[in-house]
Amino acid sequence: MSAPMLEVDGLTLRFRTPSGLVNVLDNVGFALQAGETLGLVGESGSGKSVTALALAGLLDARAQVQARTLRFQGRDLLNSRGEPDPAAWQGLRGRRIGFVFQSPRRALHPLRPIGAQLQQVLQVHRGLKPAAARQEALAWIERVGLSDPARRFKAHAHELSGGQCQRVMIALALAGEPELLIADEPTTGLDVSTQARVLDLVAELSGLARERRLAMLLITHDLALAAQRCARIAVMHAGQLVETLPSAGLRDGAAHPYTRQLLRATPQSAATLEALRSVDGTLPDLTRNDLPACRFAERCDRAEARCRAQAAPLTRLTGLTGLGTRFGAPHALACWHPVQVFHPPLPIAA
Ligand SMILES: Nc1ncnc2c1ncn2[C@@H]1O[C@H](COP(=O)(O)OP(=O)(O)OP(=O)(O)O)[C@@H](O)[C@H]1O
Ligand SMILES: [Mg+2]
Repeated sequence: MSAPMLEVDGLTLRFRTPSGLVNVLDNVGFALQAGETLGLVGESGSGKSVTALALAGLLDARAQVQARTLRFQGRDLLNSRGEPDPAAWQGLRGRRIGFVFQSPRRALHPLRPIGAQLQQVLQVHRGLKPAAARQEALAWIERVGLSDPARRFKAHAHELSGGQCQRVMIALALAGEPELLIADEPTTGLDVSTQARVLDLVAELSGLARERRLAMLLITHDLALAAQRCARIAVMHAGQLVETLPSAGLRDGAAHPYTRQLLRATPQSAATLEALRSVDGTLPDLTRNDLPACRFAERCDRAEARCRAQAAPLTRLTGLTGLGTRFGAPHALACWHPVQVFHPPLPIAA
């Protein structure tokens, strides 16, 4: 396998607040290959958005971010203190890494027409001359499904609906022809049919870019949606990654008690409506200084003393214990007491 497109290891994030330190991310690590789609899922408040923002060096000075490894296409993005280096991100963000933020209306410039914003991306990141950039901006407005491109070109964010803003954000993120797309809840707050259309659009536009092997990190609290749209899932609980696994094996092979609880809370995967349950308990308060080593321990009926004292490292499962052999993507788990999953033996070649 070639070197990953994005490689993250030991990512830790704390916020300084008037009431003390908030320990948000704890030792987060994952890798994304060219052409791979990875869904980052977890409950609201679990740290999905701040993961993306921390990686991109987009958090303000109250955030203390550290990582052991942060590389994009082999290029080191950390400074000597192990913090994401804004200088190293220059020239990557917008050009080689496209972002769709959770609140597009806020991410769009309020005073500049959307056409001008698109045109600027095309001039700065693709080096197009103004007239060519304008033509291409109009083409993008049409490509993301907005009618009357010439009129939309002059529109401001406040004149567009939420769904239209999402479409503009997607155009802005993809117009620079990035190699990696990081999309944070690109469809939250949209009605179901608009949601499907926006996701189809991302898939279609990524499909257009397949020859460039666009990689995508799709951030969502919706496990079913992630499983539908991504080949692999990374499950986050209270700032810790607890399991990463191929989507195709999610239903039968998820082994972390939290992943199983999330599944049980997903209408598409619960066998009956009666079987649909919410996840037990609530996320722990991240300002506590007595957080258990596994932050799920206090919500978990399988936890014992060791879980509270010592964090299980995210470990790759191999052979018949993991799903990787069967579904072609790695399965990794951070748990001392995983749910025993039934794996029928692989057929033995005659
Ligand atoms: N600037 C900040 N200062 C202090 N704490 C913060 C700050 N930004 C985020 N947090 C905390 O970090 C945690 C993770 O927040 P984050 O926005 O990443 O969650 P999320 O998983 O994206 O949730 P959602 O699904 O609701 O978008 C939360 O506990 C939040 O309160
Ligand atoms: Mg979020």
